[in-house]
Amino acid sequence: MVQLTLPKNSTVRKGKTWPKPEGAKNLRTFRIYRWDPDTGENPRVDTYFVDLDSCGPMILDALIKIKNEIDPTLTFRRSCREGICGSCAMNIDGVNTLACTRGMDEIKGDVKIYPLPHMPVVKDLVPDLTHFYAQHASVMPWLETQSNTPAKEWRQSIEDRKKLDGLYECIMCASCSTACPSYWWNGDKYLGPAALLD
Ligand code: FES
Repeated sequence: MVQLTLPKNSTVRKGKTWPKPEGAKNLRTFRIYRWDPDTGENPRVDTYFVDLDSCGPMILDALIKIKNEIDPTLTFRRSCREGICGSCAMNIDGVNTLACTRGMDEIKGDVKIYPLPHMPVVKDLVPDLTHFYAQHASVMPWLETQSNTPAKEWRQSIEDRKKLDGLYECIMCASCSTACPSYWWNGDKYLGPAALLD
């Protein structure tokens, strides 16, 4: 049987358990992947307790609350908070998804949060998407005219606009590509589902 030996610095260690908020009666436990390249230390999983009575219903609400009230060093991306920008993609409870559209009530037990799998990590829950974006650009996902350059703006007809439906809705969150085993093992050659959609 093949035996794989992982480098020592890839082992995820048990991390810090942060104090419970005082007086809170409705606590939820979060176990969150942490890694800071500047420390030279191994990744770890920290445990946080969030008072649900003073928190919004989505996973992103809890992450923002942790960052604001418990641990300002926790690092993650987010922007729109409504499933449009794709910034907050991460692995929650074993599934790649958006933290802003994933409700806490959809998860049983402790909430486990990791960065998108099989990507280099910049810090904590932030993956390095440089290669992913370069692959997207390589398929030239834009319209190009074969006519001469127009002298003024071209109006798009409703009929022409309809032809784009189903071809542009991807929000480039990378959840699909980083859930794809072919992309895990051959991401240098295989463009992955997100780039191929465009
Ligand atoms: Fe924009 Fe979640 S914050 S998709």
